[in-house]
Amino acid sequence: MTNTPDILCIGDLDVDLFIALPVIPGFDQKVAGKHLGQKPGGMAANAAVAMTRLGRPVRLLAAVGDDHPGEDALKQLAAEGVDTGFIAIRPGSKTFMCVILLSPSGEKSLIRLETDAYLPRASDIVPAALRGIRHVHMTYGNANLTLHALEMANQHKLRTSLDLEPPDIRRAPEHLAGMLGLVDTLFLNSEAFDVASEVLGSTLNTDLLRPNGEIIVTMGAAGCRRVSGKDLIEVSGFKVDPVDTTGAGDCFAGAYLASRWANDNPRDALTFANAAAALATLDFGAQAALPHRQAVETFLRNNLQSLSDSRTETINA
Ligand SMILES: Nc1ncnc2c1ncn2[C@@H]1O[C@H](COP(=O)(O)OP(=O)(O)O)[C@@H](O)[C@H]1O
Ligand SMILES: [Mg+2]
Repeated sequence: MTNTPDILCIGDLDVDLFIALPVIPGFDQKVAGKHLGQKPGGMAANAAVAMTRLGRPVRLLAAVGDDHPGEDALKQLAAEGVDTGFIAIRPGSKTFMCVILLSPSGEKSLIRLETDAYLPRASDIVPAALRGIRHVHMTYGNANLTLHALEMANQHKLRTSLDLEPPDIRRAPEHLAGMLGLVDTLFLNSEAFDVASEVLGSTLNTDLLRPNGEIIVTMGAAGCRRVSGKDLIEVSGFKVDPVDTTGAGDCFAGAYLASRWANDNPRDALTFANAAAALATLDFGAQAALPHRQAVETFLRNNLQSLSDSRTETINA
């Protein structure tokens, strides 16, 4: 493996402000909260850091404001080894921020403070950003940007993946089918799978994707399943005591891609991704607990028993 990035992540980068609260206040109410810290996040940035820590060099194409949080985020990403050369800095804008309110039992409510620097623009995806790239991983933000990036990848004969969240699908249902036709690997959580099936009027299947496409549905603590044509593989999740599940799905996608690009078969890649994502839940912040490759390998060795107990099945393989 070289140190030149061959995977390009495109999408959002933000700063997450974590606040612990006894209850969520209503309007005109006051509660005392605890500032738990301000940490980098964003789906595309999380996936990029996940892959880099797992040994896959990645370029991130995103945007930040010209403020201190943006500057800090860029420094931290560069220190991780992410190629930040194509991250746009928007003059006069603030960096996209999320306020994450945590209940005593660990549930979260999220306030998104979208700014002009929320996403890169289609014009930020300059040809040089694709130099050396073999795979484009897109986290959705808006339909135009996603379609543009996927079409560009298609023209350059690059492989593609897309991580869809439920609100993305609801925001532009008319674009869903067109987007899926440009995708090799589609990541969704269970809710997004249901929303996509509802919007499409039938159960989401890989006929809508590029030839030999795969749909990977993450199911929280229960693990994941992969559908490709008539093949179905299910792999149970690992038992952990999560501290914060923010970014688990982004880590899963990054780990699955890193594993597949290291020539692992789909089942091994699903297991590897489940392990990496389980480890990612063990600290506050989307990126704080993203594991290095060795930690995932050690975790897998130490959990061989639960691995062999896990329900893995293949139908029509
Ligand atoms: N409580 C948990 N215990 C173990 N693994 C988890 C847990 N929550 C998430 N994961 C791992 O993270 C992956 C993604 O989580 P999920 O909640 O499905 O996605 P998202 O964060 O996008 O909603 C799961 O497939 C699983 O591998
Ligand atoms: Mg997700």
